[in-house]
Amino acid sequence: MNRVISLGQVDSWRRAAAAEARLSSDGWVLDVATGEGGMARVLLQQWPRAKVVGLDFSREMLRNGRSHSAGWPIRWAEGDALSLPFPSDFFEAVVSAFMLRNVTDVRAALTEQVRVVRAGGRVIALEMTWPRSPLFRPFFRFYFGSIVPILGWLFTGYLDAYRYLPQSVQAFISPEELATTMEAAGLQEVQYRLLMMGTITLHIGVKAPGGATAQTRGACGACVPNGPSSPAPAATPTGPRRKSLWLLSRPGPGPVPGR
Ligand SMILES: C[S@@+](CC[C@H](N)C(=O)[O-])C[C@H]1O[C@@H](n2cnc3c(N)ncnc32)[C@H](O)[C@@H]1O
Repeated sequence: MNRVISLGQVDSWRRAAAAEARLSSDGWVLDVATGEGGMARVLLQQWPRAKVVGLDFSREMLRNGRSHSAGWPIRWAEGDALSLPFPSDFFEAVVSAFMLRNVTDVRAALTEQVRVVRAGGRVIALEMTWPRSPLFRPFFRFYFGSIVPILGWLFTGYLDAYRYLPQSVQAFISPEELATTMEAAGLQEVQYRLLMMGTITLHIGVKAPGGATAQTRGACGACVPNGPSSPAPAATPTGPRRKSLWLLSRPGPGPVPGR
């Protein structure tokens, strides 16, 4: 459905986001709110040796993600973006695609991403935004407000979800406000690009070198060293912020499809 709505462009936006992760060859990367795993698969296409973790709080989405990603070495985790079940300073990059608009607290979600990314690591957010151009806005409003709900209903049977989509995009903060929120969450060198006539934004920020989360640095002593067949990191000690289930599955050993 995402492909239909985006006129076939969604994977090119995901590729632009994946390129910004700038991973070392086998680094850990988190796809927050992975849904059916579209972003996670694109990350693996771009960084075939990376260890990709796809997290979502919806079991149904994770189930769909697994079935759509058979043969892809993705690690799946169930948890809330507002309380990530991972050690601090662990991932080389954290990516979210079309998530921030859906969370109840954007800054809290970004603060969690900053916590789990390593110092010098990148936090990347791909999101939909209301276009600025007064000429283009009426077309976008018509397409998103009238055509997309009908397409959504025809293809999926859900009307309300696709009525909510334009409302959530219009209600979401502007690209400038999102950049400011990223800085407030602790990111530096924040920049963003507008794609698809300003309807998509790609934000990138860097966790300050030396900006590790002091009180939990070393929490990943329990992690197994990186390696082609290594498991994902062990869960951190239990506590109010660690109540989610960390890992649901390990990746399969097979090659990355589509390579
Ligand atoms: C529009 S989908 C995006 C899926 C995927 N990232 C993509 O590229 O298509 C939004 C996803 O965010 C998930 N989500 C929303 N809020 C969340 C939260 N607080 N924690 C974890 N997942 C969340 C939903 O379950 C859903 O799968």
